Amino acid sequence: MSDQPHWKTNFPVRQSEEHEVSRRQFCQFACGSAAAFGAGWIVKQKLFSAPVATEPKLVARLGEIEIGGSRLFQYPTADHPCILVRLGESEFAAYSQSCTHLMCPVHYRHETRQLVCPCHEGFFSAEDGRVLAGPPPRALPRYPVEVRNGEIWIVPKVQSV
Ligand code: FES
Repeated sequence: MSDQPHWKTNFPVRQSEEHEVSRRQFCQFACGSAAAFGAGWIVKQKLFSAPVATEPKLVARLGEIEIGGSRLFQYPTADHPCILVRLGESEFAAYSQSCTHLMCPVHYRHETRQLVCPCHEGFFSAEDGRVLAGPPPRALPRYPVEVRNGEIWIVPKVQSV
């Protein structure tokens, strides 16, 4: 019978091997963390970065939206819901409809000239998209609007050089 303690016969791992296991586990943890961080960054870019638009889009004709009204559309792709609001006779604004908090769709409330997110009571100014109240961390992405010959167009943002 050996004079080793009982636990050593049950766990026959030498001390130098324990360090090998720890190093391996550390590497697995580091690689796993890096992969998770990379995947998270890609998801964030996909969800929260507005894609670059290159083509103008006809959203409505002037007579189709009354003052205080709104129209939903997709821009620049079918995966990006947006909202056009008519603030006044010749005053329009267009925004991404996805709340910057957790992506719930915002709705226009003309009485207060606000875009409202019902999920967690986020409020945005319909005049410039800035956050007025609630948890949203940043303004709604805004798209330039042009009225041409009685038609309301969303136009690509001009890239600064
Ligand atoms: Fe809009 Fe939370 S998703 S406030």
